[in-house]
Amino acid sequence: MLKKDLLGIKDLTREEILEILDLAFEMKKLLNGEKYSQALRGKTVVTIFFEPSTRTRLSFEMAAKYLGAHYGNIEVATSSVVKGESLIDTIRTVERMKADVIVTRHNMSGTPHLLAKYTNASIINGGDGINEHPTQALLDMMTIKEKKGDFKGLKVAIIGDIMHSRVARSNIWGLKKLGAEVKVAGPSTLMPPQIEKMGVKVCYNAEEAIKDADVVMGLRIQLERQKSGLFPSIEEYREYFGINEERMRLAKPDAILMHPGPINRNVEVTSGAANASYSVIEEQVTNGVAVRMALLKILCERRN
Ligand code: CP
Repeated sequence: MLKKDLLGIKDLTREEILEILDLAFEMKKLLNGEKYSQALRGKTVVTIFFEPSTRTRLSFEMAAKYLGAHYGNIEVATSSVVKGESLIDTIRTVERMKADVIVTRHNMSGTPHLLAKYTNASIINGGDGINEHPTQALLDMMTIKEKKGDFKGLKVAIIGDIMHSRVARSNIWGLKKLGAEVKVAGPSTLMPPQIEKMGVKVCYNAEEAIKDADVVMGLRIQLERQKSGLFPSIEEYREYFGINEERMRLAKPDAILMHPGPINRNVEVTSGAANASYSVIEEQVTNGVAVRMALLKILCERRN
């Protein structure tokens, strides 16, 4: 299972996704118990992030260390990238230091796919432009499975900046493969053309998407990827698409609220909703470590 790299959920089969989730649940038992193992003893994991990150980069570091791997990080701002070294030369330099797995994030869609062709190290996509964020979707699917058991017929509402969201795209690929029904909602200016072709229902108001949902997933408004003027104001966005306690009452009584983080509190999700008992946002963070442990283990074993 899995090829050399993990570049996107689009490339995975349903069975591969479920196998990763099964191993992630095993890893979570380790996290909740002894925490450390030597499963990746002798292996080296390197992260190189060209965009900011708290959760993804640090959880890969934790995952590598919990499994006994060596870990290194390249701080792009103080690396030879700023002297003009190319991406490919950078990745080949890291490989020559005997890295087994390189995790990378870049604002250009397709960057990890390019790098994977130029290195024998396994590349994991930590987020590429607006294309995919596969490890986020895997931790989201793990959280949904943990809370809901099964995906078949599960109603998932994804609300927000669908256009610029690699999290939305990876989740749609994965959730559809697992049999969930996915609705997306957001301002029409933040809805990618022909998104219906991914098998989702498009709603232009939050209420329609959230009604009877089992899972409500908010997305961050990605101001760094937007040219100005895609919606009139933050206040208007909050008014029409912000997830609040009143809107959550439209979902099923046992619905859960998710968000990949970081949250713009009181913009896409109110603090009241984010802190409510139905919110699993912090549990997603813990599952992120477990999923990344599982992926590192699978890719390293595959390399053996
Ligand atoms: N969800 C996510 O990717 O968070 P970070 O940007 O903090 O890694």
